[in-house]
Amino acid sequence: MFRDAAKSSLIFRLLALIFFVHLCVALSLAQTESKANDLLRQMTLEEKVAQLTQLPGFQVPEFTQQNGLTPEEVARKYGAGSVLWVSDPKEINRWQHLAVDQSRLHIPILFGLDVIHGYHTIFPSPIAMASSWDPKMVEAAQSVAAREARAAGIAWTFGPMVDIARDARWGRMMEGAGEDPYLGAAMARAQVLGFQGAQLGGPNHVMASVKHFAGYGAAEGGRDYDASYIPEELMWNVYLPPFKAALDAGAGTVMSAYMDLNDVPASGNRWLLHDVLRDAWQFKGFVVSDANAVHSLITHGYARDGQDATYKAFSAGLNMDMASGTYLKFLPAEVQAGRISTQQIDDAVRPILEAKIRLGLFEHPYVDEPLIPQVLNDPQSQQTARAAVQRSVVLLRNEGGMLPLDKSSKQIKSIAVIGPLADAETDLLSMWGALTKPGPTVSILRGIKEKVGSAVQVEFAHGPNIWRDIPSLFENIPSLPLKAQPKQNAEEAKKAMDDAVAVAKQNDIAVLVLGETDLMSGEAASRSSLNLSGGQQELLEAVVATGKPVVLVLVNGRPLDISWAAEHVPAILEVWYPGSQGGNGVADVLFGDANPAGHLPVSWPRTSGTAPVYYNHNLTQAPEDAPDFKSRYWDVRNTPLFPFGYGLSYTTFSFDNLKLNHAEAKVGTNLEVSVDVANTGGRAGDAVVQLYIHQRAGSASRPVRQLKGFQRVSLPASAKKTVHFTLGKEELQFWSPATKQWVVEPEQFDVWVGGDSTATLHGEFRLTR
Ligand code: BGC
Repeated sequence: MFRDAAKSSLIFRLLALIFFVHLCVALSLAQTESKANDLLRQMTLEEKVAQLTQLPGFQVPEFTQQNGLTPEEVARKYGAGSVLWVSDPKEINRWQHLAVDQSRLHIPILFGLDVIHGYHTIFPSPIAMASSWDPKMVEAAQSVAAREARAAGIAWTFGPMVDIARDARWGRMMEGAGEDPYLGAAMARAQVLGFQGAQLGGPNHVMASVKHFAGYGAAEGGRDYDASYIPEELMWNVYLPPFKAALDAGAGTVMSAYMDLNDVPASGNRWLLHDVLRDAWQFKGFVVSDANAVHSLITHGYARDGQDATYKAFSAGLNMDMASGTYLKFLPAEVQAGRISTQQIDDAVRPILEAKIRLGLFEHPYVDEPLIPQVLNDPQSQQTARAAVQRSVVLLRNEGGMLPLDKSSKQIKSIAVIGPLADAETDLLSMWGALTKPGPTVSILRGIKEKVGSAVQVEFAHGPNIWRDIPSLFENIPSLPLKAQPKQNAEEAKKAMDDAVAVAKQNDIAVLVLGETDLMSGEAASRSSLNLSGGQQELLEAVVATGKPVVLVLVNGRPLDISWAAEHVPAILEVWYPGSQGGNGVADVLFGDANPAGHLPVSWPRTSGTAPVYYNHNLTQAPEDAPDFKSRYWDVRNTPLFPFGYGLSYTTFSFDNLKLNHAEAKVGTNLEVSVDVANTGGRAGDAVVQLYIHQRAGSASRPVRQLKGFQRVSLPASAKKTVHFTLGKEELQFWSPATKQWVVEPEQFDVWVGGDSTATLHGEFRLTR
């Protein structure tokens, strides 16, 4: 009785607290809106259009030519919605003074930057963090990134990038969470929470911009910026869920993509920006274009001229023009001509002002410069980054338990560390990591040297240089740190190769660090071939031919063609672009101070010609278990080299006792699934328990498998744990092309649970009407 009373009083207090929090949020939103409306009442049309403009943070001759004012003059005369590409706090303060001191209404500028996986402490690239299958870790990493960026005056990041990428030729696969909508949604949510905190506007946080809306990852042939053709059912079921998850987590803004989506460029696509975003999802924040994308509507052959581009982008639902200055030049005339109403302009400007108010920019427009070092030099951030590397790397092969290596010199007296990325620093950051204000980076060579100390001798050889045949847009720009390795002639390359092989011969084992420089993956970094380019394959084969045991460490942004290595190299560790603490985190794993538990967020193609490859494809008339040589390609197996969700550990796990609480249940019932996971090896480790479903028939063909649950669980040696999953409406529904609606259908379903997408532990259930 007493317990019941105490319980009801607790419930009452909890409800009261929830009500109070909601009330406070509603009040503060109302105050924000009223302050924005006050400002709007005082603003001229030109001042409003300036708020709809994101200015480039440096001189752009075309911008000035078109508008008759430099970006700085615009900020001074009319103010500015935002400025991008300024990462230096001193510069940020200088710009801010222009708007706050000199523009008529003193509205502060919102500074935006690509803080994709770190500002000063660079975390592993997003594809690496997704490989951790650990949303909490990802949230923690992005909250460090947010704290550092905010301290330096950046209140808005252009992330998370949540584009589903099924084609490894596409260079931007590294910026996202891979091929799967469910994992992608989990990573999108985690990143938004990390960047923004629980509520937009919290201290030490920044506003997120989920991008690139939408379908950019489906660029034809994996060629960056090329058109995407995606049927509506794939948009809803595959490409849009991570965006929805980011918005549900509160993402304040959306960035529209560059490419044509089904023949209408995303930045002028009303279906995307209005029907999906505002109508279906009730999004209340604002949309910024990708860089220059409003002007690019002309280049696409979609808009006749700047006037038409302005009209098409604005009326599609795009609030802010990134860097092209097209709105600035043409929007006032559109209003004067009556094609766009003042009401529409106000509705577009309001969320921008509201974001500035919620972010506290009116109270604190300036960077507190003396405080910055304290934030950037927090040693805890480096620890978080190191742990993130340990949790992100994926052990792809470990024949005969070659890893972990012994650092005590009992078995190994000397190590050759070889390869064009072995002593790399900036390359470990990825292109976006290199473009903020990165602090020092630990190379893999240094990480290994520090790990073994004087106990083991470490000798380094670079091997031949690697470079892009067609240079990157971002290459060798004096103000940017992205430097390509110099091209070598055949003689120089041969000498470098011979030296490397000699070093391999002189040492007990060889650790080869191969892959892609920062410029070889990322924006404008698509490739037709996934090979280990520039002599790296030859180097690998030559070192293996010495007979020394070889560990291959891959630094890259996408799966590469390692079919040969997968047969001939005993240990392969995928570390992606691991960031500032890359060398330390990788050495921790190589020498067993951390046990790898990363799992692939993408299916690993056998050759370039098999891309795109993804696990959640539909069944065909030739079933999966038909010999794949006969039914698909005849020159290569149809399956990936490593399946989605795959990753090894220094221990082993078993999965059994799969239980479902119902064999049959009505549509609308939640199904509970449980499975026992046991650590069957001799050391502690993390298992990534993955649940997949398949709907056997229905109003549309459904993918052969779909990830619908995962948990990363730590298990001491020999320990066992029961892991629980719930399959509810979210997991069981799909957007049916037959009914053009979200449906949960009364059908037969399969369930598999295990350590990757080929899991064999099976159960089934039926949903009934
Ligand atoms: C990229 C975006 C990025 C923007 C601003 C564009 O080229 O596509 O992802 O946020 O530049 O740097």
